Amino acid sequence: MLKTEVEEALNEQINAELYSSYLYLSMSAYLEEENLSGFAHWMQIQAQEEAVHAMKIQNYVQERGGRVILDEIEKPPVEWDSALDVAETTFEHEQKVTSLINELVDLAEEVGDHATRQFLQWFVEEQVEEEDSADELVQQLKMAGDDPRGLMMLDREFAARPPMFQIPGEED
Ligand code: FEO
Repeated sequence: MLKTEVEEALNEQINAELYSSYLYLSMSAYLEEENLSGFAHWMQIQAQEEAVHAMKIQNYVQERGGRVILDEIEKPPVEWDSALDVAETTFEHEQKVTSLINELVDLAEEVGDHATRQFLQWFVEEQVEEEDSADELVQQLKMAGDDPRGLMMLDREFAARPPMFQIPGEED
C-alpha cells in the first residue's frame, strides 16, 4: 500500500508529465506554423513520450493499490520567439522536471518506500537522457544560427526521429 503523501506526490507527477506533453504539443503547433515540420514532428514525439511517462506512473500507483485522480492541466504557452527559444525552454523545463523527480526520490527515501524509490530509478535515468537531448537541440540550433540553410538541414534531421507509436493513417 502506498502512503498517502507518496500517492499524492505521484499524482502530482502525473499532472506534471501531462503538462509536459501539453507543452511539447503546443511547441509542435508553433513550429508547424513556422514551417519547421521536422522540428514540429520531433516535438510531437516528445509529447508522446511524456504521455507515456504519465501512464507509467498511473500504472504503478494502481499496482500499489493507490488511486489516480487526474487534475486540471495548466494552459501551456502558445508563442515562442524562435526555434532556439523553443529548444531553450525545453531544456529549462526538463531541468525543472528533474528536480521534481529528485524531490519524489527524497520523499520515497524519507518514508522508507523502497519500491517507489526503485520505480523512480527509471525516471532518474530518463531525465539524464531528456536533459541531454534538450541540450543537444539548443547547441545544434545555436550552430545553425541565422543561416536558413543550416536550419533547413537541421529540420530535415529532426524529421527522422522515430515515433514511439504510429498515428493511425499516417504510417509511411
Ligand atoms: Fe517526463 Fe521529459 O520528463
